[in-house]
Amino acid sequence: MTAQKENFRRLLRTVEMLSDLGPEMTAERDFSQTAQIMLSALMHATGAAEAVLFVFIEKPSMLNSVASQGFALIPDPSVIPLLPRHVHALSSTQGAVLLPKSSYDTFLSANGNVAPELFKCLAPLRVSSKLVGAVALGRRDGDALYDEEGLQSLDLLCHYVALAVQNHTLTQTLAQRVAENLRLTASLHGFYDNALEAFAVAIDVKHINIHGHSLRVGRYAAAIGDAMGMDVNEVASLRSAGYLHDIGKVIVDKRLFGKPGSLDPEEFREMADHTVVGHQIVAGVQFPWPRIPEVVRWHHERADGSGYPDGLHNEDVPLPVRIVALADTFDAMTSPRPYREPISLGATLNEIVRMTPQKFDANAVQALLVQIRRDAVGGNRAPLLEDRSAGNLAPTDIDHLAAMLQHKVSGARNYPT
Ligand SMILES: [Fe+2]
Repeated sequence: MTAQKENFRRLLRTVEMLSDLGPEMTAERDFSQTAQIMLSALMHATGAAEAVLFVFIEKPSMLNSVASQGFALIPDPSVIPLLPRHVHALSSTQGAVLLPKSSYDTFLSANGNVAPELFKCLAPLRVSSKLVGAVALGRRDGDALYDEEGLQSLDLLCHYVALAVQNHTLTQTLAQRVAENLRLTASLHGFYDNALEAFAVAIDVKHINIHGHSLRVGRYAAAIGDAMGMDVNEVASLRSAGYLHDIGKVIVDKRLFGKPGSLDPEEFREMADHTVVGHQIVAGVQFPWPRIPEVVRWHHERADGSGYPDGLHNEDVPLPVRIVALADTFDAMTSPRPYREPISLGATLNEIVRMTPQKFDANAVQALLVQIRRDAVGGNRAPLLEDRSAGNLAPTDIDHLAAMLQHKVSGARNYPT
């Protein structure tokens, strides 16, 4: 009768623990903490004084401890390499097993940093017959033997612990893969960035007046994309597109870049052709960013259809193209030309806001203002404008321009009354 009562009490405790474990396992916390909580519950249910929770690692096969309690001396982590026959035995045994000295070799090897003799009972953790870990129990309170009820409680709880362990393993694998992919992408970006930077410099060697233009357009376009909340890939794509936007200029007679007056119609056509020729050059190249050919062809298109070579309107021009077009104009205006001095930053921004949204994308202009305001405020970050400091432009001037732009854009909309 007493034994029955004791069993009943233990069963109640197990059910209680199961209901407690649920929220514990799904709580937002470090897995090592969750593992300790699960292990405590298992020890409580079985009366174990010592226990280890192992995670199964597939290649190479081994058990790696993630939590241990009660053992006086045990390495952290404890590692037990497994042979295929051990994995097979752990994968196929029915529930928890007692481990007399003669049989531990069936399940565990002695080649790890922990002696398998320490364990008196072993419960494999499986999810749909796939091994994900194991719970090993050492001595029991008062050195009593593990009984049938204790093993049943252990089996019941292990079902849930196995799910938590598998969840953890999957998350870890996923995190590793994502990290590896990011590393690969980053090195690929680094490679392309360097190669394209070299291209950008080569495009601009035509004339002193355009030195550094493509590099700056790349930087400005990336900064605008960044301020618009684009992800790292899109920002990298904008930088590369900026570097290459004028690639067609390699065919333009370099005399035209230094001409002090305006271009005659024939010369203008030759200059304008750099968009179409550039497009022909890059159209066949497999870039990791698909927008580059569009940027090369359309960066002189304007929202009102007044641009070239295709006379497209705003809605027909993809956003990355509109961003590079703005970066291009911004750099052209603030750089010297054979026929004029550089236009001041304040006058340039005023003019750009005046021409928005007729010529430029309002959101891109707003993002450019955000970046230049950061320069004007100062701080630790590298300034957007290298030599043309925004220092002589007050943040309030930029706020005024931003408000003006906002007013123009919202004023242009027709709200139903
Ligand atoms: Fe251009």
